[in-house]
Amino acid sequence: VSLREVGRDESVTVAHALGSYPVYVAPDGLSRLGEMIDRHLAARRVILIADEQVYHLLESQQLGSLNWSGDVLTFPAGERFKTRESWARLTDELVQRRYGRDTGIVALGGGVTGDLAGFVAATYMRGVPHLQVPTTLLAMVDASVGGKTGVNTPTGKNLVGAFFPPVAVVADPVVLRTLPDSAFRGGLAEAVKHGLIADREYFEWLEKQADRLLARDPSVLTHLVRRSVEIKAEVVSDDERESGRRAILNAGHTVAHGLEQLSGYSLPHGDGVALGLIDECALAEQMGVADPGLSQRVASLLERLGLPIRSPYPLDTSRLMSAMLGDKKNREGAIHVALVTQIGHMHRDPTWTTPVSSSTINQAIDTIR
Ligand SMILES: NC(=O)c1ccc[n+]([C@@H]2O[C@H](COP(=O)([O-])OP(=O)(O)OC[C@H]3O[C@@H](n4cnc5c(N)ncnc54)[C@H](O)[C@@H]3O)[C@@H](O)[C@H]2O)c1
Ligand SMILES: [Zn+2]
Repeated sequence: VSLREVGRDESVTVAHALGSYPVYVAPDGLSRLGEMIDRHLAARRVILIADEQVYHLLESQQLGSLNWSGDVLTFPAGERFKTRESWARLTDELVQRRYGRDTGIVALGGGVTGDLAGFVAATYMRGVPHLQVPTTLLAMVDASVGGKTGVNTPTGKNLVGAFFPPVAVVADPVVLRTLPDSAFRGGLAEAVKHGLIADREYFEWLEKQADRLLARDPSVLTHLVRRSVEIKAEVVSDDERESGRRAILNAGHTVAHGLEQLSGYSLPHGDGVALGLIDECALAEQMGVADPGLSQRVASLLERLGLPIRSPYPLDTSRLMSAMLGDKKNREGAIHVALVTQIGHMHRDPTWTTPVSSSTINQAIDTIR
């Protein structure tokens, strides 16, 4: 199997104002990392950044063999370490080890590592090139596209950061074997979102391949990652020309963020997205924007993929509403939602999001209660 380059040789490139980069998706990506480093970080002094958990998987050969050796920096795994303190510690390490302007960084891990190591790369010596090697499904289908890097602060997520695209992304679906079920499901929820907002054929393919996806069949996962990357890349680059379409990537997320906040962030993001997609499709049906039966079909697919279709805890409607109103995307006291009209198509009138009344929201919540 050869490495497949999405972008240069194929129709879609991850491109935006800050430049474009290839995303390689192949089941032998990790074993060819050395070659990728030679190609994209040539003549650089390369250092790999990973969280401790991923580094342990790598050392014990559970992730697959990495055909590269060199300096490694680690930090403790988990969202709570995506901080300015971790950024400072990693940066200081680079300084102490006398890394110069010729540094090249490899970010190996999930979205936390991608965001944190990407932010280190964005700021070190005013910016050094980095290669992203996502190892979670979420990082492959979502975080690796768009060039966002950054860290959290005690008051909120991703409040400090920079747009800093990598020189390339290498995604090897074989590494997903060791991913815990809940994290794997989270990536699947985003893939369902991609089909729902932009590609009916892809959505129907997900319906047909549900069992092979759950078995983590590398060839099926390769197609999934490729198609999701293409869709996100297409929407992100389209946004450069035609402002606002990027908002459709937020489908399901207005409700998801509210649910996550209400749960004190114990609800995994992917579970929130699944419930959010069902709820927001029900909303669109009630408003007469979507075909009847849409939310039911979306719920069936999500359920087959192991995602929740009912809230695991009782829902207090007024608390959920205020959590959604607090979301930074909902200015001026109205809740704005990107609405699906039918699988693969989004409502636009004339903007990509629509204000939704609180009574409609109240009613739709029953779908996931
Ligand atoms: N930059 C963006 O555009 C963007 C988009 C979406 C999400 N994000 C960010 O991504 C983060 C979430 O990413 P995540 O879900 O990948 O979390 P994560 O990076 O914390 O990874 C989850 C856990 O899985 C472990 N892990 C990683 N790969 C593994 C593997 N192959 N096998 C076994 N375990 C593995 C990690 O050590 C970690 O403990 C959030 O901080 C979010 O803000 C960024
Ligand atoms: Zn998401």
